[in-house]
Amino acid sequence: MSTDDDFSGLENIQDYDSQFSKIFPKQKRRKPQDGFKNDKVVNQVLDKSTMLTMYQMINSKIIAYVNGIVKAGKESALFWAVDPQGKDVALKVFLTSTSNFKKRAPYILGDPRFTHLKKGTRNMVYLWAQKEFKNLKQCTRHGLPVVKPIYVSKNVLALEFVGKEGVPATTLHETDVDENDYNQIIGIIRDLYKKAKLVHGDLSEYNVFKTQSGLVVFDFGSAVDTMHPNAQNFLERDIKNMSYFFAKRGLTVENPVDVLAKIQS
Ligand SMILES: Nc1ncnc2c1ncn2[C@@H]1O[C@H](COP(=O)(O)OP(=O)(O)OP(=O)(O)O)[C@@H](O)[C@H]1O
Ligand SMILES: [Mg+2]
Repeated sequence: MSTDDDFSGLENIQDYDSQFSKIFPKQKRRKPQDGFKNDKVVNQVLDKSTMLTMYQMINSKIIAYVNGIVKAGKESALFWAVDPQGKDVALKVFLTSTSNFKKRAPYILGDPRFTHLKKGTRNMVYLWAQKEFKNLKQCTRHGLPVVKPIYVSKNVLALEFVGKEGVPATTLHETDVDENDYNQIIGIIRDLYKKAKLVHGDLSEYNVFKTQSGLVVFDFGSAVDTMHPNAQNFLERDIKNMSYFFAKRGLTVENPVDVLAKIQS
């Protein structure tokens, strides 16, 4: 499959032409060794407004161009972009078409940082992207090992690309783990709570990269302030999720209830 075929649906639409070739310049674009993963969702992800947002990000020099789409999930898609210095950037594009607000509401309502909400699906998606950006900023300010946030606009979130040549780093789910990883993640959950005053809310082996320099946590859209009415439940669930994962992999783990008590003390 050639990379150009991935976007064939779009090239018929005249309006998109000039923007499209600026965002995805044929001469510059690279593709990962194993190709780009998914082409079906591209038309859906790249609606007019998302194209314009990417285009504006090029004009503001946040990125220089985009290589293509690396991963496509139900609610977001990940693009591999490059900044003007040649550094890889991950663009997490939140889909406005499949947004599931009901599922997200419990992670927004009740957070003291988000009190004035604009109604409408699009606005909720934009808010979700901003929330992830804000959460990540809060983490980096406190020195936590998370993916570095670069910029957010509308439904597009720019992040430091963790991985190589358009291939994301392996997650805990995809790799061998040891006691050191377990201790690290418990330490991160504690620092998140105590220093950054956040609870991840969706922590699992799928949302943690294992890199040469240690674990890196991502997917912070669900993270809530520790003052959120459900923060304690989310904290307990995060600890349990990670403990069960490491236990399933044959490691001896501390009782999650004791871990929770220690973190809250
Ligand atoms: N900064 C990044 N650098 C490289 N790859 C990334 C980055 N952020 C996310 N990814 C890749 O994109 C995938 C999905 O990202 P993320 O978990 O943030 O989105 P999501 O909407 O929760 O998707 P999913 O439902 O698949 O978990 C990750 O599993 C990872 O492989
Ligand atoms: Mg995820």
